[in-house]
Amino acid sequence: MLKKLKEKFVEIDGDLRLEERSNEIYGVTAVFETPDSVIEAAKKVEDYGYAKWDVNTPFPIHGMDDAMKLKPTKLGYATFTFGTIGALSALAMIAYMSGFDYKNIIGGKPFFALPPSIPITFELTILLAALFTIIFTLVVFNKLPKINHPLMETEYMRRVSSEAFGIFISAEDKKFNPDEVIGMLKSLGSNSVNLVYKFATDEDKIKTPIFKPAFLGILAGTAVLTAIITYVVLNYAIYTVPFDWMTNQPKLNPQKMSTLFADGFGMRTPVEGTVARGFKPYESYGKPDSLIRIISNPMPFTKEVFELGKKKYDTYCSPCHGNYGKGDSRLNGQFPNPPTLHSDKVRNWKDANIYHIIVNGQNIMPSYAKQINENERWAIVHYIRALQRSQNALDSDIPVDGNKK
Ligand code: HEC
Repeated sequence: MLKKLKEKFVEIDGDLRLEERSNEIYGVTAVFETPDSVIEAAKKVEDYGYAKWDVNTPFPIHGMDDAMKLKPTKLGYATFTFGTIGALSALAMIAYMSGFDYKNIIGGKPFFALPPSIPITFELTILLAALFTIIFTLVVFNKLPKINHPLMETEYMRRVSSEAFGIFISAEDKKFNPDEVIGMLKSLGSNSVNLVYKFATDEDKIKTPIFKPAFLGILAGTAVLTAIITYVVLNYAIYTVPFDWMTNQPKLNPQKMSTLFADGFGMRTPVEGTVARGFKPYESYGKPDSLIRIISNPMPFTKEVFELGKKKYDTYCSPCHGNYGKGDSRLNGQFPNPPTLHSDKVRNWKDANIYHIIVNGQNIMPSYAKQINENERWAIVHYIRALQRSQNALDSDIPVDGNKK
């Protein structure tokens, strides 16, 4: 095993190296002993006008950004772009699904609207922004999966990754001249200045171990094993004694049989006469109109009540009765159209009759007692009265002096 591994190395200057080097210069490295000296040296290198150079230190050094005159990272632009893509694709997806592909009528609400789309849009924005920022950093900035670099396996890198501080000036710099650079770095106080050569093989052609079949095999094997374990745990283990203590509890399940009660039902109907908290039973519930005992609308006709009535009418009644109560349903024939609320019959009704229908429903119109509470029902009645007046305005309703009836 060790022998096999050794074959892959080449001996250079008495050292075992993975890759052979060429005669082409990659750059010059200089080692400094203290953080202060490397900061001072970095300032000078920047002053001399070099553009392609870098500093390698075993830990972050405060003030290095300023010394090197580094510009803020461009990563933010990438994150912003990916976030925007996330937001737009979420909106496009929701708009297509609920606006075109699978229209669902829900209480007459618009098929596509921004407010209900915000959670998913928010999530996809964050997801794409975060995920692609990491992938972008690793692949574009850090050039993964490439894991070899001419600075690797040098005495320089060995030192600056543990106890010393280094400056590297690339041969690709326009001002690069080996002798000049070596002289300058020595004059800045480094006592270890070295030339680094490129790899003998083209850098990009060197295969990274990531794509070795053995590695990919282990990766795929791990995935399959994890899937099998998860499947067995979730489908069998949790239903097996003694791990089933969560699934099999002594409790009543809705819609399930129970041996506890004589009738065998798990769900119980409330005891007769039970009144739910916050609810006042309607005494004429389920009784014919002739038994309605309420005489008048107990809610005052104020602006707030009127607006409450409009809001509840628009939500619960307008899908069938239309925005103005004309019976022009928005349900495209999915439910029979109701009669107009402007008929003489409904206009001459007592308020209590309309209230009675909201609670009881009428023929095929269902009861809305569960969705709309008592005050809201009376507010709706006020609003229907206002609608009726608006459709049957009299000349005398027109203000004469401009603002007062
Ligand atoms: C699902 C559709 C639908 C909704 C929602 C609905 N209605 Fe109705 N409504 C009907 C239909 C259909 C009728 C006619 C029933 C019948 O055949 O007697 C009707 C009848 C009525 C009548 C009697 C009209 C008449 O001339 O007999 C009133 C009053 C009324 N609705 C009020 C309301 C109010 C107030 C709401 C909101 C709380 C509401 N409806 C919600 C479908 C609906």
